[in-house]
Amino acid sequence: MIIYRSRVLDTPDDPFTGGVLRAEEDAGIAVEGGVIVDRGAFRSVADRRPAAEIVDLRDGVLLPGMVDTHVHYPQIRAIGGLGMPLLDWLDQCALPEECRLEDPGYARTVAREFLTGLVSAGTTTALVFGSHFHDAVDALFSEAEQVGVRMTAGLVTSDHNLPEPLLSTPERSYKEGRDLADRWHGRGRLRYAVTPRFSYSTTPDMLASGAALMNDVPGLWFTSHMNENPAEIAAVAELFPESAHYLDTYHRHGLVHERTVLAHNAHPTDAELTLLADAGASIAHCPTSNSALASGSFPLRRHLDHGVRVALGTDVGAGSGFSLFKEALQAYFMQQLLQGDGVPLTAAHLLHLATRAGALALGLDDVGDLSVGKQFDAVLVRPAAGQPLDVCLRQAPTAENALAKIFSLGTAGDISRVWIGGEAPLIPIATPAG
Ligand code: GUN
Ligand code: ZN
Repeated sequence: MIIYRSRVLDTPDDPFTGGVLRAEEDAGIAVEGGVIVDRGAFRSVADRRPAAEIVDLRDGVLLPGMVDTHVHYPQIRAIGGLGMPLLDWLDQCALPEECRLEDPGYARTVAREFLTGLVSAGTTTALVFGSHFHDAVDALFSEAEQVGVRMTAGLVTSDHNLPEPLLSTPERSYKEGRDLADRWHGRGRLRYAVTPRFSYSTTPDMLASGAALMNDVPGLWFTSHMNENPAEIAAVAELFPESAHYLDTYHRHGLVHERTVLAHNAHPTDAELTLLADAGASIAHCPTSNSALASGSFPLRRHLDHGVRVALGTDVGAGSGFSLFKEALQAYFMQQLLQGDGVPLTAAHLLHLATRAGALALGLDDVGDLSVGKQFDAVLVRPAAGQPLDVCLRQAPTAENALAKIFSLGTAGDISRVWIGGEAPLIPIATPAG
């Protein structure tokens, strides 16, 4: 058994419904078999467990591992394509790169790069948009298993309106998805998600084939995009004249439920918000992507008012990196700019969105905070001595202010250690000097 001694910040109780930041200046977290078995003031935990090994982390701040509910594996090399709206960005930046993953060797290299980016940023759990190629998705799962990350991912499916190499048929998509789900779903920390790219690139038959896979393999997840950009929404309305709205293109196939996570929803109707809430589905809010592509301002207030679950996604590569510190800060900025219509977010909201809210969206009740009984998925924020974040953390008058400083200044370079289920992921983590 190990007792980690540190300053610990987490949000087991939702700040959107009255919870507050839980801050302990000198906490002890006892971990056995990857699970937190005791927690409290360090001295009392240490007294209760005199035989435990002590790991002193008082030079840092311990947070729960970050949860990214929407990130694209084949797009790491597409990050930074600025200045275009969604459909142009897809044509010019994302899709040409995604075609390259037809080469399994290239795909494996990209999978390693992707997982390095993810874990180095402190992300311990992710819902990952896979590739259109079966072998590339297989490579992602096998690399993720080696690394030890908690990952839900799937074969991306499309059968029109994309470059030809990315297209498949409903029958082939079912067969390849079935093979991947049979191999990987429920294996260790891995799960499978049925992943049509978006209704713009999928016919009703392709959506029906995804629904068939979900029916045939119990417990699969469903993820896709919706209501991201006005031109996309108009095109989907034309392609699906029988659907009441964008969400209905998925809902009529039985794809909207508690294991559904849809990215964006920047332009929802009230009917869609009501349906999402009733179904218990979640939205992955992706603020750096929405800003970079000028997709629109996320109506967080309306989501909260309707009772829709919201978590955060980096949406790499339209989003501008793997850091959920940056993503959460951008969510804060966007709500500020909405002024009266925005939700004034505190640092506790940001931490909750980046951790526990993601865990709940993904149905992972045993991650997202550092309570007794949870998995020890954690990150140590320890900036290099003398760097602005280090200086600021030493001066912070309150725990809430220290957390705001972490979200304002923190980068992957400030994350010195990562644990997933009590173990270090098998990827070198960049450690700050000093
Ligand atoms: N909609 C369909 N595909 C994509 C994608 O790769 N990125 C984003 N942001 N939106 C999409
Ligand atoms: Zn996306």
